[in-house]
Amino acid sequence: MLIRKAVMSDSEGIYKLISHYAKEGKLLARTYSSIYENLQSFVVAVINNEVVGICSLTILDRNLAEVRSLAVNPAYVGKGIGKALVQQIIKETEDIQINKLISLTYQITFFSKLGFNQVDKNELPQKMWKDCINCPKLHSCDETAMLMNVF
Ligand SMILES: CC(C)(COP(=O)(O)OP(=O)(O)OC[C@H]1O[C@@H](n2cnc3c(N)ncnc32)[C@H](O)[C@@H]1OP(=O)(O)O)[C@@H](O)C(=O)NCCC(=O)NCCS
Repeated sequence: MLIRKAVMSDSEGIYKLISHYAKEGKLLARTYSSIYENLQSFVVAVINNEVVGICSLTILDRNLAEVRSLAVNPAYVGKGIGKALVQQIIKETEDIQINKLISLTYQITFFSKLGFNQVDKNELPQKMWKDCINCPKLHSCDETAMLMNVF
């Protein structure tokens, strides 16, 4: 398995994975246009030239970034791919010297194992919510906010 920055030819694989889990209500859907615009924020896991996992890093503020669009192909879950992707995102966050990395998620155990701790959503800065306007669960968000200090 190879973890690397996404390139444009990965966009179909990225779109397919996000769409798959968006239908199950586990991820926020993204358009091709959004993927193109944010391609540089994605890392991908590749096996036999196939994109089997994805994750992106969004900068929200001077000292706050967010893990977004984390997904592993259902045929490959439980093999350490999700962990490797988030570890790469943590490294990128550290490289650009942002200390706080957040995730809004249902995967509490998964993120706990990577060093994230639960925090009160009400304590998060306004900027955190700028994309929530696009979410069908806007007024009934049941995700858990998890935060890690990367250095
Ligand atoms: C969540 C997800 C990315 C995990 O990816 P994965 O490749 O299966 O995870 P890993 O194999 O790297 O697991 C890392 C650790 O977390 C644990 N873990 C993973 N998913 C878990 C779950 N649902 N419940 C409890 N523990 C879990 C693993 O057992 C493993 O523990 P270990 O290090 O002690 O062995 C994957 O299940 C997925 O794509 N889910 C659907 C989309 C989604 O929910 N994305 C998250 C949005 S924030």
